[in-house]
Amino acid sequence: MSGGLGLPNPADVVATEDLSVAYEGQRRLLSTGSPRPAVRGVSLRCARGETLGIVGESGAGKSSVGRALLGLVPVTGGAVTVEGRRFTSMSSGDRKWIRRRVQIVYQDPYSSLNPSMVAADIVGEVLRVNFGLKGNERRSRVRELFEQVGLSSYHLERYPYEFSGGQRQRIAIARALALEPSAIVCDEAVSALDVSTQAQIINLLEHLQDAIGVGYLMIAHDLAVVRHMSHRIAVMFAGRIVEEGPAERVYSQPAHPYTQELLAAVPIPDPVEQRRRRAARRKLLGTAATESAAIGSEQGCPFRGRCPYAMEVCSIEPPPWVAVDGGGASACHLDDRTAALS
Ligand SMILES: Nc1ncnc2c1ncn2[C@@H]1O[C@H](COP(=O)(O)OP(=O)(O)O)[C@@H](O)[C@H]1O
Ligand SMILES: [Mg+2]
Repeated sequence: MSGGLGLPNPADVVATEDLSVAYEGQRRLLSTGSPRPAVRGVSLRCARGETLGIVGESGAGKSSVGRALLGLVPVTGGAVTVEGRRFTSMSSGDRKWIRRRVQIVYQDPYSSLNPSMVAADIVGEVLRVNFGLKGNERRSRVRELFEQVGLSSYHLERYPYEFSGGQRQRIAIARALALEPSAIVCDEAVSALDVSTQAQIINLLEHLQDAIGVGYLMIAHDLAVVRHMSHRIAVMFAGRIVEEGPAERVYSQPAHPYTQELLAAVPIPDPVEQRRRRAARRKLLGTAATESAAIGSEQGCPFRGRCPYAMEVCSIEPPPWVAVDGGGASACHLDDRTAALS
């Protein structure tokens, strides 16, 4: 496995394979002069009716992965697959097709909803442009979509500024659904909402998934936000996936030191497991090395500079993918050693 979640298969609505993204303006590596990629070797997949959570701190590359699926950012390596169609590069025709099949909902719908259009027209416009719907046909489809996202006919003729944050997110979801996509990238779509509104929007997304089988890529910097609705979770750090697995396992038994840091405030519910892991790590700390001259180079583990368990090998070799009990895998030299010891 090169980057995390295995090879794409035909059941996937979206997938990436060894994906790299690099922006022109990004800091260049002294040695090569090429841009330091924002995303490096990421492989993930999301099946029909599945929710894949992507978590990690700001700058980890989460949005870049989501946007790469829609052809919105410069892909410098690997491939993107949408409904079984694999793209290593995209023509403008490909992008046009993809943008009907994959939709994206952003954190702040206020900036993506035209302030001078009423809600019904914001959604209706999409139906006109993409399906040529007119008049009554269009109006009744808009009503249907509003109903699906829990808005009433009262809301049809209102402007975005007249809605609350949660209602604006419902309009953005209705607009996304209008295209009948197979996947929706929710990029921090609930992050800015208060906790109870968050729960309502998550309920809505789950309900819609049950009804239409759409796949979600739920991007969030906060693991708690995506925990309950994700089937699987991928954890990103510095452009890479460092751990992936079933949501409950990743949350209750995080394997990678970065995932553990991300969850530091959350107690591990299994004290026996916690003691076992600590003991294994203490044993290995004896071999911990101070950071060598390799620091700042692209070799080794991206997390080594912050990792409390960093060993010499971490600055020399890229970490291997090691299967984790309970499902998924973690890219860590320590888990590799722990597995060898037990
Ligand atoms: N349009 C852009 N131009 C240049 N650099 C960018 C652009 N978008 C993102 N980046 C950089 O790419 C890296 C990953 O960003 P992003 O994908 O937005 O991460 P996240 O969503 O996890 O916060 C960051 O270093 C960020 O500064
Ligand atoms: Mg982001």
